Amino acid sequence: MQKITIAIDGFSSTGKSTVAKQLAKHLGYIYVDTGAMYRAVTLFTMQNGFIDKEHFNINALVEKLRNITISFKFNKDLGFAEVYLNGVNVEKEIRTLEVSSFVSKVAAIPEVRYQLVKQQQQMGKDKGVVMDGRDIGTVVFPYAELKLFMIASAEKRATRRFNELIERGDNVKYEDVLRNVQERDYIDSNREDSPLRKAEDAIEIDNSDLSLEEQFNKVLHLVEKTF
Ligand code: C5P
Repeated sequence: MQKITIAIDGFSSTGKSTVAKQLAKHLGYIYVDTGAMYRAVTLFTMQNGFIDKEHFNINALVEKLRNITISFKFNKDLGFAEVYLNGVNVEKEIRTLEVSSFVSKVAAIPEVRYQLVKQQQQMGKDKGVVMDGRDIGTVVFPYAELKLFMIASAEKRATRRFNELIERGDNVKYEDVLRNVQERDYIDSNREDSPLRKAEDAIEIDNSDLSLEEQFNKVLHLVEKTF
């Protein structure tokens, strides 16, 4: 069967990666978590002391961008690809609330976006890809055959992210997670370069009251209609 490109965008913690992973597995497609790439660049920025609560040395980061290599390796046990920063598996480190608190600032830098978008386009050039993020349907693959835009209430989203962090053993407060989700949505939607927008031809899915199974069936139906 002919392969297509599936772009999934939306606000933070709308369940994009869950549905993207399910779809990729079902269709035998590659799944690319572009948020993980921005998170890995953020971890690099933190590790080099270029960002903290008080300052952000954008020039230092931009100068070092060519020293950053981000790659993915499929983990058979997990059933998805984990992200590597300069050859080191950083899948766990990039999901902390601290990384989340800086990532939208790093992702607003045009040089960072330019480099990561180029890599994303390369990874999806042969189609057969499910990619999730904020600008996939608008910038990375504007000609994707299927574009989804996921939404859910801020409280539902914060609860999901909070539960994920607690399950991992992180000591976080619900209010801090909610504030982070709202802050990221604001910065991501208001930045100059590639702001988070629903592409005109994207199909909106509100999953506030959908079970994972209902959501998957709905999305699968849309995929089937695309062929
Ligand atoms: O998807 P996730 O919540 O892990 O993304 C983390 C952050 O990375 C987002 O809040 C956003 O600032 C940035 N991002 C982006 N463009 C993408 C994917 C993520 O700007 N395509």
